Amino acid sequence: MYDQNPTIENVKQQVAEERQGEALVLGEEKDGKKFYIESYGCAMNFSDSEIVASILAKQGYSSTKHMEQSDLILINTCSIREKAEYNVRQRLRVFDNVKRERPGTLIGVMGCMAERLKEKLLEQEKLVDIVVGPDAYRDLPQLISSAEDGDKGVNVFLSREETYADISPLRLGSNGVNAFISIMRGCDNMCSFCVVPYTRGRERSRDAYSIVAEAADLFEKGYREVMLLGQNVDSYKWASPDGEEQVNFASLLERVALVSPDLRVRFSTSHPKDITDEVLYKIRDYENICNYIHLPVQSGNSRILKLMNRTYDREWYKERVEAIYRIIPDCAISSDIITGFCTETEEEHQDTLSMIEWAGYTMSYMFAYSERPGTLAAKKYEDDIDLKTKKRRLSEVVHLQQELSHQHNLRDIGKTFKVLVEGVSKKSDKHLKGKNSQYKVVVFPTDGTIKKGDYVHVRIKEVTSATLKGEIVTADE
Ligand code: SAH
Ligand code: SF4
Ligand code: F3S
Repeated sequence: MYDQNPTIENVKQQVAEERQGEALVLGEEKDGKKFYIESYGCAMNFSDSEIVASILAKQGYSSTKHMEQSDLILINTCSIREKAEYNVRQRLRVFDNVKRERPGTLIGVMGCMAERLKEKLLEQEKLVDIVVGPDAYRDLPQLISSAEDGDKGVNVFLSREETYADISPLRLGSNGVNAFISIMRGCDNMCSFCVVPYTRGRERSRDAYSIVAEAADLFEKGYREVMLLGQNVDSYKWASPDGEEQVNFASLLERVALVSPDLRVRFSTSHPKDITDEVLYKIRDYENICNYIHLPVQSGNSRILKLMNRTYDREWYKERVEAIYRIIPDCAISSDIITGFCTETEEEHQDTLSMIEWAGYTMSYMFAYSERPGTLAAKKYEDDIDLKTKKRRLSEVVHLQQELSHQHNLRDIGKTFKVLVEGVSKKSDKHLKGKNSQYKVVVFPTDGTIKKGDYVHVRIKEVTSATLKGEIVTADE
């Protein structure tokens, strides 16, 4: 978690956005040059690390989980909140020690912090050799070779075209069941609190055929779930070079769903201003498009939403939620919430709490507002809510969400869900874990015949706020 806040430490949060920095490896280590990579931030960053791994593999590098044995240490960084950047700087201290022991090791900073701070990073972090922004990963081999010659390598060029469509990602640390597919890059929205448009550049959509081909290839290799990634998937828009064919997000979803009925399709993130009924009908019509939508509200108050430049208000958001439940009655909805945005009053904070309750989210990612240099909010508004108030509001939001998640799960007792098995449960090797369509974690005892990648039907017997527990039943039981 990037915001390690005591009030939210115990809240189990389940998606990739909240993954701690992880060293991801491919498993096998070969002789020859080795790289070590740690990723922070959102799923897009984890997905990018897999693209970088592929680029490095072509140069003869293999991955290692031992940084002290590597020739190249990379850190894929996040700038979304101050704490995220602080965590990265702490890790750089650790890498510095490795480099002192093993002076030939190169250290590279990739991702959003590289883009935000550019050359400044080289000045501030003396032992960093390479700074490479999210659109410049193809240039890594050149940057490495100039760093080997003693020159610091920097490329933070942001592109209007780069989608890495032709690069087949190397699935790092994969369970062989779930995979990310980036369908677009960048963001053209200017939410006033957000640094992403500055670190990731303009929005662009990837060739639809390359996306479907990647999904088909993953399915053939045994993967059973793909998560289509973009900062605002609903604005996906691709046209064939001759302009004859136009593909929007609904049509892309359908094409990926048609790869196989046994390939589950998920996507993130949906923007309330752009999600269409056409997308909702596709989710309804294809059993393998999961009944789960991450629809961040950020605030439940229309004045704050306006200051955030989210371009929808409370009523618009409610209408979209109503449409979701009308078209897909058992759909789960999750959200992102920011507490203590500039000038937020107690009453406006109450509007956020009432929205969380009204929308019935199954889970939320919840953050105290952190001012980011260069954003519209930093330029236009005073960050005037003190940290204590932000955190108190955050803890109110967290507690409400935890209670609602629990209630939502309690309503699942007695229901039977189709579960995609992802592996052995953390707590006991006699139990397997997987997810249902609603993105809830389901744990159940195994008889030893079931393996990851299988679908089973599980009837729920007990729940916590984070997990459903049950037993396997035959589909029609
Ligand atoms: N594209 C996604 C969000 C990506 S960033 C969307 O539009 O919903 C993930 C989440 O981080 C955001 O939804 C927001 O809740 C949070 N976030 C972004 N900037 C932040 C900031 N300056 N302070 C606190 N939280 C922030
Ligand atoms: Fe940031 Fe808004 Fe873009 Fe999401 S939609 S990445 S919050 S600017
Ligand atoms: Fe962080 Fe960049 Fe993602 S700022 S949340 S890694 S797009």
